[in-house]
Formats: sequence, C-alpha cells, structure tokens
Amino acid sequence: MIKRFTFGTPTDTEAVLDKPAPCTFSDSRLIKTENGFRCTLFDREAVYGLGENVRGINKRGWTYTSDCSDDPHHQEDTHSLYGAHNFILLSGGSSLSEKLGIFIDTPSKVVFDIGYTDASELMITVDSPGFDLYVITAPSLLSAVTEFRQLIGKSYIPPFFAFGYGQSRWSYYSEDEIREVVSEYRRAGIPLDMVYMDIDYMDHYKDFTINEEVFPHFKEFVSEMRSQGIHLIPIIDGGVKLEPGYDVYEEGHRNGYFCKDENGEDFVIGVWPGDCCLPDMLNEEAGKWFGHKYKFLTDMGIDGFWNDMNEPALFYSKKNLTGIAQKIEAYDSQKQGINEVLSFKGIFEGVNNNPEDYASFYHDYKGKRYNHKDVHNLFGYYMTRRASESFDDFIDGEKPLLFSRSSYIGMHRYAGIWQGDNKSWWSHLKMNLQMMPSLNMCGFLYTGADIGGFGSDTTEDLLLRWLAVGIFTPLFRNHSASGTRRQEAYRFGDFEAFSDIIRLRYVLLPYLYNAYLDAANNNTLMFTPLSFLYPEDDIASEIEDQLFVGRDMMIAPVLEQNRTGRVVYLPEPMCLIRFKHTEAINEGCLDKGIHYVNIPLDEVVVFIKKGAGLPLGKPAQNLQCFDINDTYILNCD
Ligand code: GLC
Repeated sequence: MIKRFTFGTPTDTEAVLDKPAPCTFSDSRLIKTENGFRCTLFDREAVYGLGENVRGINKRGWTYTSDCSDDPHHQEDTHSLYGAHNFILLSGGSSLSEKLGIFIDTPSKVVFDIGYTDASELMITVDSPGFDLYVITAPSLLSAVTEFRQLIGKSYIPPFFAFGYGQSRWSYYSEDEIREVVSEYRRAGIPLDMVYMDIDYMDHYKDFTINEEVFPHFKEFVSEMRSQGIHLIPIIDGGVKLEPGYDVYEEGHRNGYFCKDENGEDFVIGVWPGDCCLPDMLNEEAGKWFGHKYKFLTDMGIDGFWNDMNEPALFYSKKNLTGIAQKIEAYDSQKQGINEVLSFKGIFEGVNNNPEDYASFYHDYKGKRYNHKDVHNLFGYYMTRRASESFDDFIDGEKPLLFSRSSYIGMHRYAGIWQGDNKSWWSHLKMNLQMMPSLNMCGFLYTGADIGGFGSDTTEDLLLRWLAVGIFTPLFRNHSASGTRRQEAYRFGDFEAFSDIIRLRYVLLPYLYNAYLDAANNNTLMFTPLSFLYPEDDIASEIEDQLFVGRDMMIAPVLEQNRTGRVVYLPEPMCLIRFKHTEAINEGCLDKGIHYVNIPLDEVVVFIKKGAGLPLGKPAQNLQCFDINDTYILNCD
C-alpha cells in the first residue's frame, strides 16, 4: 500500500506523474521531526535503496546526501555521487514482517543518516520545508519495490543495439583513430557495436559542433561506421560555451534561455570549454530548445548520446574568479603572517562546485522563479528528459540511445545513467556490482560502470574480471580517462581471453534481454540481492557479492586480484554452468550451501535454478548480424 503525505508547498519534480491523493500524516514507525523524520531501526534490520551511492547494498551505517555532485572520488567516505535517488527500503528486521519503503520527493538536499549518528536510528533531514513523502508498506521487499516502481512509471528501454559492447576513451581524436580502433577489434575477433566520442570531436568543446579538421566528413564517416555495424555515440555537455558568434550561444542569449544571476544577467560558469552559460533545462521552452539542437547530430545519422557534466558541474564561476583576482592583486607579501600566507595559498580551494555559486543563479520552472540550490537535483534529469521529449518532434522511428551522468528519480522513464568517473580499482569493480540492485530499485535499469575503470591505470586481470561482470550489465562500455593506460580489449597479450568473454555477452543476450524487458515491463529488479529472495536464510541475507540476474541466474564473480576462484553460497540447489570459449558446459547440480568454485581468468561461471532453461544465442561480431531468435535452450537439470 502506498500513501502520500504532503508537507508545506512541494515543488513538483514530476518524479510521480499520477499522484495519489494526500493523506494526513500521523506518527507511526516514522516519526516527524522539525525538519524531517526519524525511525528506530530494529536489530539487524537492513536498509536498501538510494540508487547511485558508495558502499554496500545494505546502506546501514553511513550518511548519504542527495545532492548531485561532480565528484570523481568515489570513496568509502563519499556522501554524494551524481544522482539524487531518495528512495529507501527497510527490511523490518526479524521481528517484523512488514517492509517499509520511503520516498522523499523534493529537488533540494536530503540527508539520510542511516544508523551513523546513532546505530539504531534512521534520521532523514530534508532541506526544504515543502516536499511529498510516499510511504509504502508491503509484505516483501520485492513487492515494495514493485509498488514503488509502479508509482514512478515504467523504466526506459533503449534501442536494441545499446545492449552490445561499446568502446570509449577520452578521447578518440580523429576519424582515423576511430577507424583504427574498429579495425583492431575486428582483427582480434572481438565484437563491437558502439564507439563513444568524447569532447574532442567538438570544435573547442562547443555542443552541437564538429571539429572539422579531424572529422572533415562527419556525415559520411557516421554512415561508413554504420555500414560496419558500428554506432557512434557522441557526448553532449550541460554548459554552452560563451562565445560571440557561436550560434547556440547567440540564440540562447538572445532568447533568454540561460540561467540568470540576481540581476537578470546570464550566469557565467566554467566547464571544459572555459566560460559557459547554462541552459535553463527546467524551463520547458529553453530545455526544448536545447533538446532540438540534438537534431544537428541526428541529421548526420547519429542515434545515441551521453549527457555529461549535468549536475551541473561547475569548475568555477566568473563571479568567484573575479573575487579571487582582486585578492591576488591586493596581496602584499611584506605584510603577511603565516596564517595569511596559508589562506592565500588556499584561495583556489573550493572554487569547483562551490555552494555559493549554486545559490547565485535562477531557474524559471513551471512559471515560478527558483534559486538553483532549491532545485539543484533536477538539472541533469531535465536536460535528459527535454532531449528525449524533443526527439519525438524530429525522429520518425526509434528514439536514439540516451543516458546521462546526473539524474533524479523520474529520469529513469526517459534514459539510463552510467556510474560516473570511477577508478581502475578492484573495490570499484565490487561497487559497480553492488550499485546495480540499488539503481534498479529506483527505476534505473539501463546502467553500468566504466569497465576497466575511468581514472588511474588498469591491469589486464582487472579488465578481464570487470568485463566478466560487465557482460551482465545492460550498459556494457569500456571507458577511460585521458592520460591513463590504454584499455581497449585488443591491446593485451591474451586477447583471445578478452574475445571469449566479450563474445559471451552476445551468447547470453537472449536471456539478459528478456530479463531486462521483464524488469521494465513488470516493475521488478533485473539485479536482485539474495536477501530479497531468501529472507529467511541468514547467510543469504548478508551476501553482497553475489546477485541474481533475471529470475533464474545467479552470478558470483571474482572481485579480487590474484584469485583463481572463490567461495560461493548457493541458497538452493543450482546448476553450475561454466563458459569456456563461449561454450556452455553444465557441470551439474550443486547442493544448497557453501562451495569453492574454480574460475580462471578466461572463464565465466553462472548458477542456474534447477529445472530452468537458459536461452542462449550465438556469438556475433555485432548486433547487426545477431538474431535474437536464433537461440537454443540449455536445460539445467
Ligand atoms: C567527465 C565524464 C567522463 C568524460 C570526461 C571528459 O569526467 O564523466 O566520462 O570522459 O568528463 O568529457
């Protein structure tokens, strides 16, 4: 059962389109405090949800802040990543059968202190006095998720090619460099469906332009790639370069489409292109105007985009820099003590994503003026939603693939997300796995992390193990930052191992695609923690490095270096299927309980429910030459 409670005058985020009538709130398990709620947590009660966040699947024992942040340091002590996903789910502990789901619908900051300040207390602090609270009570964790997902609407389903393997790099600098990547993949016999184009395809990082020096015949190049089964997926950034004469800037400025400061002037921030203005993505007219700009690229045959820097990322504001320049000018080295020197040294600290800057510009949303800080968490959501809605105006057939870095619940209906700037760390491989169910709970199904790690240098074994997880995630993309070790799959000694694992994605696709559609159409999870399925099983309830993918398959990947296998817990008797050179070998049924399973670097092992049939396809060079109906069923008895 879902109940909605309204406090103050909420800003309508449109996370929920069909809102139930509000009820009158009275304290129950959830007790109203001055600026939020508190709730006593039961002994061993688990708390799930919160979508894109660090730490484990059970979120208990830390504080999470919904405040979309461009923070490349995804560490244990990080409080906010790129998305704001205010849905949590309490397992009820052993004494209670009723599960409790809580969704705080507000575009401003929300802090979830989940047994951090007081180990037995959940404290929710809501920045704004106006918000909607949705409370779900359900007999099981899965049914609570389904009720919530019904409330927020059906998840995005991307075009089929988006389930193939994609290679990305910041950046591929020319047509020839991309041609080389594609031909190297082909030479190594590794499938490839997409090549991602990072900011350097643009002219000086200006959205909706092409650097014609290095991409001189872009339209022809897009079709040349398509004839080889490759989709090119360019990046679009949230900030528009401030450059007189640049048509997107000129139009935005002339029509008043950019966010303004308190004096009504365009607010100037810095992102990759240098000085930029921010289109008011929340405003329907301005956001649609920006969304229509994607036509520049779809007219050239582009059918997929990734929206970036849309928290929005703010490297500096012109206002802040001007203040700093004045301080530098006034600096008198003769008159400074150590404290003045130290504070002078630190004057550039805090220039990035500065809270004062976020409070210095305004949006015109639903006919009302809002300070950005009060609607901060909606920027990436609306950038992406407006683009998706604009596609309807100029795309006849299927909409392009679309995913974003920043998001809010509601955006899951329009696009996917990637998990941002992770690192080539084994701990981030584990985090990738653990974020999948949390994101699914909040409606985000088309998601995945930068495989191999974005920042820092990857290793051959990390990339192989990461690919062996990535083959299960809907977004299956290898991406890395400039200056890091190259990590295209063909670059390593044992490229056959890479080829086997990536080809396996295609073999598994009939099962995985069905699992995706099932999760989208039935408002359920594609990645399910064991605790959701075996709540009575104390061991299963605490396992966070094994997941169900779809209804019949459990994965238990190797997540540590220098391991040739791992301990796996089977919550019921299951068949061990080993994939060797993409061939499926049924090693028979294992009993419920603890097992040690050998998993060499070039193999993948999955566990299938006894009696289930696993639909498998044939490896293919890409999805253009893949027939999802050409499958056979592996019987798992
Ligand atoms: C941001 C994105 C990353 C991209 C880079 C350059 O850091 O998260 O994926 O490669 O910007 O555009």
